[in-house]
Amino acid sequence: MKIQVITLFPEMFEGVLNSSMMWKAQERAGVQFELIDLRQFGIGPRKQVDVPPYGGGDGMLMRPEPVFAAIEHAKKMDPKARVLLPTPRGKLYKQSDAKRLAGDESGLIIFCPRYEGYDERITKWVDEQICIGNYVLTGGELPAMTIIDSVVRLLPGVLGGEQSAAIESFQDDDKMIEFPQYTRPEEFEGMKVPDVLLSGHHAEIEKWRKENKR
Ligand code: ADE
Repeated sequence: MKIQVITLFPEMFEGVLNSSMMWKAQERAGVQFELIDLRQFGIGPRKQVDVPPYGGGDGMLMRPEPVFAAIEHAKKMDPKARVLLPTPRGKLYKQSDAKRLAGDESGLIIFCPRYEGYDERITKWVDEQICIGNYVLTGGELPAMTIIDSVVRLLPGVLGGEQSAAIESFQDDDKMIEFPQYTRPEEFEGMKVPDVLLSGHHAEIEKWRKENKR
């Protein structure tokens, strides 16, 4: 799977893409990341990408031509890729979306808006508008990282334990089904690990875990 990100701030992705999970994704699951600097598609000697909105209003909007050119560039690399636009006006992103995107053969092109927004005509080249939560962030970069992380970890070979992705929280949208877990030491600050987990009794442990899912 090829994941291309169109952004004015490629450096924001360095930490995330250099994490061990993303390395595994590249080595074990054949994921390819491409950061596309939107500035290089900017207009004129100053490589302009933003302009004031028609009709007045605060701030600047991203003009459509550089975004179109960047998406065209990305599409040349991966013609079947789905184009995603993180926006608070999008559809609320859920685990089922991560699964769908991970299960789909096609790559992803994620355009990260900045400033006060974008010219609406940009949406013509977008397949999905995605909101990651009911709050407003400064740009599309953090939502893009969230989407990438949630999709990539579901690709076969990326997570350590084969079962980890299947048994964890949010297996079904909105339903928390993970049980509490404990590790060493057996007692910490007066708090003890439940006896059943130390018992070695697998049936009892399963029962306890089922009863304590939340
Ligand atoms: N851009 C700003 N806020 C956002 C959100 N909550 N989801 C997706 N994109 C955004």
